[in-house]
Amino acid sequence: MSMLSVNGNRLYRSLAALGEIGAYDAGDGVTGVSRLALTAADGEGRRHVVAKMRQAGLVVTVDRIGNVYGRRPGKDDSLAPVMLGSHIDSVATAGRYDGCLGVLGGLEVVATLNDAKRETLRPIVVAFFTEEEGARFGTDMLGSAVATGRIPLEQAYGLRDRAGKSVKDELDAIGFCGDEDERLPPPHAYLECHIEQGPMLRAANLDIGVVTGVQAICWHELVIVGKSAHAGTTPMSLRADPGVAAARINIAIREMTSSGQYGEDLRATMGVISPHPGLVNVVPGRVVASVDIRNPDDAILARAEADVVLLYDRVAKAEKVTITHRRTARTHRVRFDEHVQARVIAAARARGLSHEPIVSGAGHDAQEMAPHCPSGMVFVPGENEGISHNPREHSTEAQCTNGVNVLLDVTLAFADESGLR
Ligand code: GLV
Ligand code: MN
Ligand code: MN
Repeated sequence: MSMLSVNGNRLYRSLAALGEIGAYDAGDGVTGVSRLALTAADGEGRRHVVAKMRQAGLVVTVDRIGNVYGRRPGKDDSLAPVMLGSHIDSVATAGRYDGCLGVLGGLEVVATLNDAKRETLRPIVVAFFTEEEGARFGTDMLGSAVATGRIPLEQAYGLRDRAGKSVKDELDAIGFCGDEDERLPPPHAYLECHIEQGPMLRAANLDIGVVTGVQAICWHELVIVGKSAHAGTTPMSLRADPGVAAARINIAIREMTSSGQYGEDLRATMGVISPHPGLVNVVPGRVVASVDIRNPDDAILARAEADVVLLYDRVAKAEKVTITHRRTARTHRVRFDEHVQARVIAAARARGLSHEPIVSGAGHDAQEMAPHCPSGMVFVPGENEGISHNPREHSTEAQCTNGVNVLLDVTLAFADESGLR
C-alpha cells in the first residue's frame, strides 16, 4: 500500500485564508493577525473553521467553555477517538501559523483520508480550544485545562479581560457557549502539530522536532501603587514611583537569568508595563505589570518564583510603594508519552525527514491533555529565527507539509489500533 500524503498546497492556502480573519497591516509589507480569544475576530475565525469542519463531513459540537470538536466516525465508533487539536485564538500581534497549523493540519489529515476514502477503526476528532494564549483573560491553555479538569468551569467563566468583560459574557456574545459537557472523556491519543516558535530547528536544518515535553511556566500580574504627582514640582525625595519599582523588578529578573543561580535556562519577561495615568508630566500612581518566568526544571522554577516574590517585597520597601501580585498561570514541566514520540520518530524516518528531540519553550494545549491520555507534539521549523507572537512568524509550505504528513502517519497508527497496547 502506498503511503498517503497530505495536499500541502491546500493546507497552506487554508492557513492563508484563516490568516485573513483579524489581519492587519503591520508595516514593511508584513500582515499581522489579531484574533484575541472571544473577540469578534475570533468568532469569525471560529465560524470559518466550523464551516470547514462541516464541509469535511465532521459532526461539530461545542462545549460549555467554547471548545469546538469536529468528529469523523470510525469503523468502530464506540472506541475512543484520536484527537488532533490546537487553537485558533492569537496574541494581538500574531502571524498565521501559531495554533492554526495544528487545527488546519488536523483538517487536512481528515481531507486526505476523505479523498482516499480511507476509513479508520477509531473516530478522529479535530479540536480547537478556547483562549490557549491567555493573552486576553490572563490564563493560558484555558479551554483545554477546563476540558481536562485542571481549571473548574465556573472559575474560567469568571475570568475578566482588562476592560472587565468576563469569559462567560464574551462566549455568549460570539455565540460559542455550547451545551456539551466541558469535561472531555479521554481520547485514545492526542496529537498536536505546531510551529516551534523558536530558532533551534531551523538553525540545525532539521525538518521535524520530536517534542519530549514542555517547560514549567509561571505568570504573575502585579499591581504596584505609589503616589501620583507633578513631574516638575515634586522633589525626588517625596516620590513613590511605581514606574521605577516596575523597572527595578524588570532588571532584577533579567539579572536572575544570568546569575547562574538558576542554571542556564531561566527565562524571565515583563511583557506588560502599564502606567496610570500614563502621561509625560505625571509621576504614575499605579502600574500594572506582568512577570513570566519559565524553566524546564520544576524545582528551579519553584525556587525562582519564591525569589521573585521576595524581590517584590524588597522593591516595595525601597521604593515606598505597595506591590500586590496574583498568580494567573502556573503549569508544571510536562513530559509527553514515549510511545507517541516513538511514532513521531518512526514517521519522520519513514519519510526521510531529519528530526531531533526538543523541549517546548511555549505552552500548548497538548500539555493539558498529557495527564489525560497519551499525548505528543510534532514541531516544524520557522524562518526569521523562528520568531513568533509576531507578524513576521513564517513557516514555509514545505515545512508545514512535512509536519502535517507526520501528523497524518501518527494519526493512522493510533486510529487503526484496537485495544490496549
Ligand atoms: C503560549 O503561547 C505561551 O507559551 O505563552
Ligand atoms: Mn500556540
Ligand atoms: Mn502562542
